Amino acid sequence: MALKVGVVGMGGIGNQHAQCHTDDDLAQLVAVCDLIPAKADAAAEKFGVKAYYSLAEMLRHEDLDVVDVTTGGYENGSWHFEPTMEALEAGKAVLCEKPLSNDITEARQMVAAAADRGLLLGCNLNHYFTETAQRGDQYVADGQVGELVYCLHKMGFSGGEYTYGPNKNPRWWNFPYAHFKAFLTHPFSVMRHYCGDVTHVQCFANRPGVRRQAGDLMVSSVSIHLQFQSGALGYLLSQRGDATYGLGGWWSFELAGTRGTFCIENCIEKITYWPAPGAGQAGDPSKMAGGAAGGIEVMDTGITDFGATFPRRIHAFLEDVTNGVSPHNLRANGRDALAVLEYTFAAIDSYENGGALVRPHALPPNPGDPKVIAG
Ligand SMILES: NC(=O)c1ccc[n+]([C@@H]2O[C@H](COP(=O)([O-])OP(=O)(O)OC[C@H]3O[C@@H](n4cnc5c(N)ncnc54)[C@H](O)[C@@H]3O)[C@@H](O)[C@H]2O)c1
Repeated sequence: MALKVGVVGMGGIGNQHAQCHTDDDLAQLVAVCDLIPAKADAAAEKFGVKAYYSLAEMLRHEDLDVVDVTTGGYENGSWHFEPTMEALEAGKAVLCEKPLSNDITEARQMVAAAADRGLLLGCNLNHYFTETAQRGDQYVADGQVGELVYCLHKMGFSGGEYTYGPNKNPRWWNFPYAHFKAFLTHPFSVMRHYCGDVTHVQCFANRPGVRRQAGDLMVSSVSIHLQFQSGALGYLLSQRGDATYGLGGWWSFELAGTRGTFCIENCIEKITYWPAPGAGQAGDPSKMAGGAAGGIEVMDTGITDFGATFPRRIHAFLEDVTNGVSPHNLRANGRDALAVLEYTFAAIDSYENGGALVRPHALPPNPGDPKVIAG
């Protein structure tokens, strides 16, 4: 039977989620909710469901299986805490937009609240729910990447001084770390998906002259060096329209190991794999340096619309809830989203201390970890 879903927060993203639930056989969208009645009413009419003006009211009248929280707020995250906690207190499975919160203490509380109740809390870490990432997963699972050596990630917004305009929206203006908090969840989640937990973070950051002249406090260009527990090394460059990305476009991710390397371009569009010299697929190891030895594989999906990530990620969440997975087996769960927020706050800490080496705050124990099960 389809899961009964209510969506909270009917801005652009709430409407996108509502469309995904409407189109997905695993879900039945039954209600939408927004504090602004006109937004709730417009979405209710569009999707042919009931409108509510508060989550409490929606929970009182509807027997929901899933509450999907798509509110935003300051730094795109300050309005997630309240409805998520309210839905967890009502015993619901919750899908929350990213970042879990713009406040790390709140994010820790959200994850603890779900764990204490044994409830499913997922986060919309949609950037690795793609055909290209799935192909990357397959290269890793098949041993075609081997022991991890490094990952390189560039993700953000292309632009420059001709396109810059101060964003005076009160959700963004005067928040120096809005780009860190609102955005870095995405690239960190992709890096952690492939390389695992991070043990050390070092960050340098800047904002260009056009921002300074406009009195814009946003620290918008971010350079982060990571050490993973696995031994792999990582580098992330993220910026918010300060410059234009070159090779790989707005979103490129390269994972290199002792047996091969893959690079995903434009998130959903393309993945290329290069076998290491001498690997089974490589024709002539001596020619590898020039990329001419053969064995190179390219998958071009032809998809360029980033919106295609939403139905895939939301379907995975609905699938996990339907299958009754345990909270720690939920894909892109609250703990995963907390991990990347801890890296974000570690990066801010490092930047504020001149690029000092910072160890991210420890995560709560993973109940699926054999060391935890063994007591
Ligand atoms: N995963 C992604 O790729 C992706 C992309 C863009 C944005 N986002 C995230 O989506 C979220 C929403 O973004 P948006 O641009 O649609 O925001 P928005 O501000 O346009 O919409 C949020 C809506 O939530 C409503 N709201 C706030 N608190 C509420 C509450 N307690 N109960 C009911 N309604 C409430 C507001 O009135 C508003 O209409 C943000 O957190 C953002 O970070 C995710």
